[in-house]
Amino acid sequence: MNETVHRHDVLILGSGAAGLSLALRLRPDLSVALVSKRALDEGSTRYAQGGISAVFDAQDSLASHVEDTLRAGAGLCDPRVVRQVVERGPHNIRWLLDQGVAFTRGEEYSSAGGYHLTREGGHSHRRVVHAADATGAAVAQTLESRVRERPGVGLFEQHIAVDLITSRHLGRADTPRCEGAYILDLATGLVETFLARFVVLATGGANKVYLYTSNPDVSTGDGIAMAWRAGCRVANMEFMQFHPTCLYHPQARSYLISEALRGEGAQLLLPDGERFMPRFDARAELAPRDIVARAIDHEMKRLGSACVYLDISHRPADFVIGHFPTIYARCLELGIDITREPIPVVPASHYTCGGVMVDHQARTDLPGLYASGETAYTGLHGANRMASNSLLECLVYSESAAQDIEHQMNKRPAPPAAPPWDESRVTEPDEEVVVTHNWEELRRFMWDYVGIVRTNKRLQRAKRRADLLRQEVIEYYSNFRVSNDLIELRNLLDVADLIITSALRRRESRGLHYTTDFPDKDRSQRSPTILIPDGYRPRGSGRSRNAGANRT
Ligand code: FAD
Ligand code: SIN
Repeated sequence: MNETVHRHDVLILGSGAAGLSLALRLRPDLSVALVSKRALDEGSTRYAQGGISAVFDAQDSLASHVEDTLRAGAGLCDPRVVRQVVERGPHNIRWLLDQGVAFTRGEEYSSAGGYHLTREGGHSHRRVVHAADATGAAVAQTLESRVRERPGVGLFEQHIAVDLITSRHLGRADTPRCEGAYILDLATGLVETFLARFVVLATGGANKVYLYTSNPDVSTGDGIAMAWRAGCRVANMEFMQFHPTCLYHPQARSYLISEALRGEGAQLLLPDGERFMPRFDARAELAPRDIVARAIDHEMKRLGSACVYLDISHRPADFVIGHFPTIYARCLELGIDITREPIPVVPASHYTCGGVMVDHQARTDLPGLYASGETAYTGLHGANRMASNSLLECLVYSESAAQDIEHQMNKRPAPPAAPPWDESRVTEPDEEVVVTHNWEELRRFMWDYVGIVRTNKRLQRAKRRADLLRQEVIEYYSNFRVSNDLIELRNLLDVADLIITSALRRRESRGLHYTTDFPDKDRSQRSPTILIPDGYRPRGSGRSRNAGANRT
């Protein structure tokens, strides 16, 4: 039994754009724990390429950004949320500039402040502010340095949250609340107790549930799974976004080729050189992602081809190298000169549009628990996220969460003591192969059966396999000491179940959810898919889930 207890005002799980910006937005006199299961900069944020959407161009308007987001979202966005986020775009970009983020300047297509605006799919104007083709790295590095200078922020790298601590762990199920989290220190192998007045999930998406993904290894849906187990509703998990253009090369693991290339004129070609997107959509390569990814999938299957090609070689070499220096250099390392030849690309899982349901202040169903960033479902993205709206959402909702937390701070006493993590009935794992095998099996069947094109039969097949794997892993989890891989696998299995269940519920095709059994949109299904956990109680109604041990 490990008795180590950490106490803070705010516990932030995750150090991407959502977690870092939240830590910086909170009053400096608050004590904050910022927890990250790897190094502070390892998350999707660091790999973001294209940029952040916000209205700056005089020819553009907030109404147009709203309209484009709603259209990409295929009728499922919450229009009020879209308006609020879009309106707060310019001010959030200015906040990033104040923190020191060096966005690319340029005379051609520049905003009033002289910042270059690029274009991506679904956007009817140039409105993407960027730092060349490595926007996420610029944002992550700048915010990380600001956070490291900040007094009052305790950094816990290589610490992975296992589960949230709720009032049920304290035997107070009648007053549901989040009190903290049990967190495994990966260096010592010990699970420690973190208690806080407020807890924020900023743990990113769940795209590692698929075999092929643009995401780093940390995207295992931990926040979504933890919130679900703690009694929070989860919405729209069937809408997993596949990015149309990830590099297809044996040595390029998870390497994205930014949509901004298409924004600057790159064309998608079949192996014989035919341009095919105009056959699928009048916007051709700049159609929203769901349409482009499905068209590529269709053509690859029709031709039995392993990839398609993205060609920007018709633009001058200095333009290509100037706009896309990182992608140019990475491809060149692999023997592809993008100024002279097309790039082999395939779709891969990229973004989790659904997540933990939150309100306008980023509050989840569980008092004391907030969620921001890719882990949250806010209503912004609907059935398909428009490019570069994600980093914007991280910034806007973390700002809201910070304001609400500060407002509530004085009303909230420090949490009472919680029982330490109990390992008295578990032993060292005896067959790690259960974990490695199930990791691979899960990601393979999710790719094959719950991918870009779905059918009822495939979804049911996936459901049977997911149920079996979950049973095995739950058993393993209750008998053996937790490890990083076991925690992530358990979470991925919970998330896979949420994705499959949501996909089976939606009996139509809309946005990113496409099934050949119901190939059309059904107007009567124009609402989010909301999954309700066992024992869920709406906020303020009293009881939470049944009490139980901490290893549930
Ligand atoms: P992340 O940045 O993924 O951070 C998650 C954090 O949570 C990490 O620190 C991780 O270690 C931590 N964590 C997770 N689980 C646990 C746990 N159990 N315990 C402790 N810590 C945990 N969006 C745009 O708007 N524009 C773009 O140009 C763009 N390009 C992209 C390019 C790529 C290659 C990818 C993968 C995504 C891109 N996106 C883009 C999407 C966008 O980057 C992400 O949606 C966004 O960065 C998510 O930020 P986040 O803070 O929610 O999560
Ligand atoms: C990209 O640069 O293509 C990714 C943009 C995004 O996911 O928003």
